[in-house]
Amino acid sequence: MFKTAGCGELGKGQVGQRVTLSGWVNRRRSHGGLVFIDLRDQSGVVQVVFNPELAPEPHAVAEQVRPEWVIKVEGAVSERPPEAQNPDIPSGSVEVVANHAQVLNPSRTPPFYINEESDVEEPLRLRYRYLDLRRPRMQNILALRHRVVKFIRDFLDERGFLEIETPILLKSTPEGARDFLVPSRLQRGNFYALPQSPQQLKQLLMVAGVERYFQIARCFRDEDLRADRQPEFTQLDLEMSFVDEKDVLDLTEELYTTMIRTVAPGKKLITPFPRLSHAEAIASYATDKPDLRFGMKIGDVTDLALKTDFRVFQRVVEDGGRVRGLAVPGEGQMSNSRLRDLESLARRHGAKGLSHVRIGTGHPIDGLTEDDLQFAQGLRMTPEVAVELARRLSGGPGDLFLLLAGPDREINPPLSALRNEMGARLKLADPDALAFAFVQDFPLFEWHQESGRWESSHHPFTSPAEEFVELVYSGDLDVTAAPGSGGVDLGAIKSRAYDMVCNGSELASGSIRVHKKDLQERIFRVLGYTAEDIQERFGHLLEALEFGAPPHGGIAPGIDRLIAILADAPSIRDVIAFPKTQSGADLLFGAPSPVGEAQLRELGLGLLE
Ligand code: AMO
Repeated sequence: MFKTAGCGELGKGQVGQRVTLSGWVNRRRSHGGLVFIDLRDQSGVVQVVFNPELAPEPHAVAEQVRPEWVIKVEGAVSERPPEAQNPDIPSGSVEVVANHAQVLNPSRTPPFYINEESDVEEPLRLRYRYLDLRRPRMQNILALRHRVVKFIRDFLDERGFLEIETPILLKSTPEGARDFLVPSRLQRGNFYALPQSPQQLKQLLMVAGVERYFQIARCFRDEDLRADRQPEFTQLDLEMSFVDEKDVLDLTEELYTTMIRTVAPGKKLITPFPRLSHAEAIASYATDKPDLRFGMKIGDVTDLALKTDFRVFQRVVEDGGRVRGLAVPGEGQMSNSRLRDLESLARRHGAKGLSHVRIGTGHPIDGLTEDDLQFAQGLRMTPEVAVELARRLSGGPGDLFLLLAGPDREINPPLSALRNEMGARLKLADPDALAFAFVQDFPLFEWHQESGRWESSHHPFTSPAEEFVELVYSGDLDVTAAPGSGGVDLGAIKSRAYDMVCNGSELASGSIRVHKKDLQERIFRVLGYTAEDIQERFGHLLEALEFGAPPHGGIAPGIDRLIAILADAPSIRDVIAFPKTQSGADLLFGAPSPVGEAQLRELGLGLLE
């Protein structure tokens, strides 16, 4: 037998018991002839003592072992003298006095320390992921992830949801990324696509009469990777029939609040989750994923900007743009060089420039004088206008006011970046707080500069808001007409899509779907698909909608991003057991890798030069 107990399970309750333990040598010390080994297994660490006089044989074994060797020991649990107790670990009040020891397997010297939290370069961690995962922090993350997924399964099971697996070898499912393709050997020249999400499958399950479906679903997207994006990632994919927005959001909110209170009780969860419209989010935070842990709202000051004689403002407004800004508390003394840094930040996010007003602390707000005001070059405003501006942006004496002028599309990204940057610098966000929110009523379409056309902002299966259905059916919608070029403004058409955000990142998306065939077909047409395209790509779905498809909707929270937030991990790579690098490589297996000529031939493939 290898073990009768886990190392971390031992405590005062076991004193006097004989135990057998197996695990890894976490640390070994010699002291006055005795050898002490901290033995580690999945349950934790316990100290084992080897005394050469009482038990010379195990002592000789202990003399030769090194960190990460796998050993088995037998001995008696004994209480440590009070001064030798370690209150930091549960088993710190006891030790095991060994009377038998055996090396099960030696280990090479590991390439980095496993027994302490040291900064190790990520490529080395990923190359030796099995060692990286041995570290306590990673073990905790694996356990947290398990608990979250188990909680989700139990919660949804109690509410009548069925977990149903859907295929991985499938056909292109548009979610806005590139597909991973798998060549078919049996049908040469044909390819499967890995699902970017089970979107259409869960809708087909609704047609199949499954009223409540979920799946812990793997999704595959060939897109540019970032800290919060992996080419394969996991969603809690969920769909319900006979529901509206409120049903889906209420369920999601209840799941998240009860889950987080159970698995991460140290987090300060702000409830209920605010529900704001997309338009409100953009107006107040200039982004659809606001960090609501702090205020510093953005405001429109176009009318006040026109009361200055700053040419830049006048011209922007003549061209249909706006002037918006935010008050940064207590930064009214910011130096010119730091302001220039902020301006560079704004420019990196697409702004043409950054203006500011600094208000000194010489007088209270209703007594401001010229002397209290400092402006960006070229800008001037009277104390009266400055007072209005300060009030509009909820600021006052001692504050800095950052102003950006331009069309919304251009100034939203830099406004949001400035708000986040100043929020971080001023430490406005409580790092232990989780500020969830739902953002609703997204536009149905979104202009894509690169492709020069409007595309679905969520996906093409999303229902337009009731009041726009008629327009989508009847209107001459032109997806190639740039914003502001006249005709129907596609950007004004609202949808029934929603996101769940937390601390400035998007954690979930979903929508109420189109369940009528003609409307779905019409949307594909608006998006520019030809009749043949529609038949070839979506014929199966359109046909299903003809057989009594119920009204339905759902949501898909990303599991990796949730765990990263709960574990305070800087990247989702930290919460995935075997993740890929930024360039999509698996450094442990060395994937992707070339394949042999014969294998290619079998698939009917050849490589281009
Ligand atoms: P969407 O594409 O918005 O919606 O994805 C939903 C959630 O999945 C997570 N996510 C990712 N996580 C890690 N790496 C990625 N590359 C990645 N891409 C997305 C995010 C995101 O909010 N079928 C729809 C959902 C629906 O309509 O029900 C969908 O997939 O947390």
